[in-house]
Amino acid sequence: MSVGKPLPHDAGTLHVTGTARYIDDIPAPANTLHLAFGMSDCAAGTITSMNLDVVRATGGVVAVLTADDLPFANDVSPSAHDEPLLATGTIHYLGQPLFMVVATSHLAARKAARLGKIEVDEVVPILTIDEALAADSRFEDGPRIWTKGDVDAALKDAPHRLSGTIEMGGQEHFYLEGQAALALPQEGGDMVVHSSTQHPTEIQHKVAEALGVPMHAVRCEVRRMGGGFGGKESQGNALAVGCAVAARATGRPCKMRYDRDDDMMITGKRHDFRISYDIGFDDTGRLTGVDFTQLTRCGWALDLSIPVADRAMLHADNAYLLPTARITSHRLKTNTQSATAYRGFGGPQGVLGIERVMDHIAAALGRDPVAVRQANYYTSRTGKQASKDIPDQVKPNTTPYGMDVTDFILHEMTERLLTDANYVDRKATVAAFNAANPVLKRGLGISPVKFGISFTLTHLNQAGALVHVYQDGSIHLNHGGTEMGQGLFQKIAQVAASRFGVDVSAIKITATDTGKVPNTSATAASSGTDLNGMAVQIACDKIRDRIATCVAAHHGGDVRFENGHVITGDVSMTFAEAAMLAYTHRVSLSATGFYKTPDLSWDRIKGEGRPFYYFAQGIALTEVVIDTLTGENRILRTDVIHDAGASPNPALDVGQIEGGYVQGAGWLTTEELIWDDKGRLRTHAPSTYKIPATSDRPDVFNVSLWDAPNPAQTVYRSKAVGEPPFMLGISAFLALSDAIGTCGDAYPALDAPATPERILAAVGRVRT
Ligand code: MTE
Ligand code: MOS
Repeated sequence: MSVGKPLPHDAGTLHVTGTARYIDDIPAPANTLHLAFGMSDCAAGTITSMNLDVVRATGGVVAVLTADDLPFANDVSPSAHDEPLLATGTIHYLGQPLFMVVATSHLAARKAARLGKIEVDEVVPILTIDEALAADSRFEDGPRIWTKGDVDAALKDAPHRLSGTIEMGGQEHFYLEGQAALALPQEGGDMVVHSSTQHPTEIQHKVAEALGVPMHAVRCEVRRMGGGFGGKESQGNALAVGCAVAARATGRPCKMRYDRDDDMMITGKRHDFRISYDIGFDDTGRLTGVDFTQLTRCGWALDLSIPVADRAMLHADNAYLLPTARITSHRLKTNTQSATAYRGFGGPQGVLGIERVMDHIAAALGRDPVAVRQANYYTSRTGKQASKDIPDQVKPNTTPYGMDVTDFILHEMTERLLTDANYVDRKATVAAFNAANPVLKRGLGISPVKFGISFTLTHLNQAGALVHVYQDGSIHLNHGGTEMGQGLFQKIAQVAASRFGVDVSAIKITATDTGKVPNTSATAASSGTDLNGMAVQIACDKIRDRIATCVAAHHGGDVRFENGHVITGDVSMTFAEAAMLAYTHRVSLSATGFYKTPDLSWDRIKGEGRPFYYFAQGIALTEVVIDTLTGENRILRTDVIHDAGASPNPALDVGQIEGGYVQGAGWLTTEELIWDDKGRLRTHAPSTYKIPATSDRPDVFNVSLWDAPNPAQTVYRSKAVGEPPFMLGISAFLALSDAIGTCGDAYPALDAPATPERILAAVGRVRT
């Protein structure tokens, strides 16, 4: 059976030989036009005049479009219709698209786009969390507040009390392939759009709105993205809609790809957060109450900020049972890029909040940070699946949102990690190193993750698939998920191959296409395999059962599908022969599959219910060294144990864990976004924005899978693995804090990202 095998990524050879086709590689018709946006040069105000004469007169320019030229909807928002494709008078942020240039080449469009003469009645922009709070500039009427128990009483009676604040920056997605789209006009006003998107149905939907046509007149196709990381859930809408509108206006194919700087100036990033905590705990470090205030900068438009901020609240507990809790979330509106989905979708920010709390308690009590965490863990209750199995009177394992944690395995995982990574000895070695070295200091950091799997907007937890078996036994596979490098297509091909008992080479993986599978959800929330894998399994089983019935009718008995053969009694035929048999007997060899996640119910206003089908878990131990004279630092060693359920492909899952960890560590160390006081993002290229390079990966990187089947009924009992390991990067941040802490008695209270400058400043604080 091919499920469970560490097979390579289906496009691995294409990736490394440079022959994988991305949007910009699709041969475009000779008359294709190219687009660029003219962007705002200030962060807030009203446009008083827009003179585009010079733009129009520039060589190669075929058309220049403004909001007034858009025939139908001028909106690219995925949520609230608050995001015009082109500005309608109000300027919301520096970098906002104001007009669109359509030219004969990419370069001509970009050059002309800079020549607009825009006059603006500027106002003082709201840029920071403090400015937004002062102006009460926010989404939703007020803060969202979820409570569990009487937190005020718990805090008042607590043996120990602490408070603090941690700031954490945003993060640029830095997908290697920038945003891109290609629109090809068809007969009768139909439109085909190739888009680098995680959400083809959303592209179809927004393009249809912009063209004033039904969704059936638009087809969106996505073979792959060169990385998405959440940055292509909604941020591709502008390019696809722009291309479609321009293609309609000119009658010619239109293509757009952002230059890297433009991509960074225009598109949204991870939400930055400030999280304050007021906590009570006992002598062992066990929490009695937690009061969290989460402040987040959502930028100018709503985009996905509500579910992102909700997920930060949903992960404020991470792996810990909070006896009482209040979580208050402010979603602040600022004149900056509209912050969007990014791997973890708010979860990492919530998790970092409570991990800081654990670390702060350990420092205050002088206890081992692992012991403090273990004292606060949820209780293990492996094996039981649904909360309805457990009577009310035995529900001590409840999250702040009232969901029972029935599949907690971090006690066991932690024990294994401490042994495998030799924690006790290593702690002693690090202490000895630090005693002997006045300048270099080492530190250890440990952090677990418990990540909720499912879209919190319950209706999104559905997926469809379309499978054909041809008369030669070859199989055409299609589903609603998109491939962004994570290996989804390969994993699902292995599912299909296993259902038919054939080799994975019999399966043709095809591009995601809204004409084949309709009404799909974004490939997001790590649920790609869970949802689409199950839909494909269902579709394959329909065809398999039809073939089995046909074979049984002719040869009798119990029909099995194994090793490329269909077997019954003494009869064995190839899968191709069985397909041919079914075809000649007029049996349908094509089927759709549909799946929806069971057992979900969630009230986001009350903050109550079962938003997740299950939890994926993991734990990491990181060792770092810092130079206390310069703040420079390195990750020396990382040990990870991560729970991917029964892994459908251990090679791909380990790849996701390694990549997630490194990206998480990058968020909290080198990746720093800086806006100046005019609202201009100053870090808009790799020259000033530093993502981890291969040389930044830990020198020693031990990753192992916790190979136990998911107690929830997922496809082959696997677990989602795309986002959860991102949060293991938090251990690198905690290790840096630990190293800084050895320099003096004060708690480092390190903010993120822990750049060399911040580390140096923290060393100074700790020493005084
Ligand atoms: N891995 C690669 N190589 N590239 C990506 O863009 N995106 C991440 C994660 N892993 C990403 C990735 C994000 S944000 C999500 S939600 C999941 O993959 C989506 O895919 P899945 O649901 O198939 O895991
Ligand atoms: Mo991932 S942030 O859910 O696309």
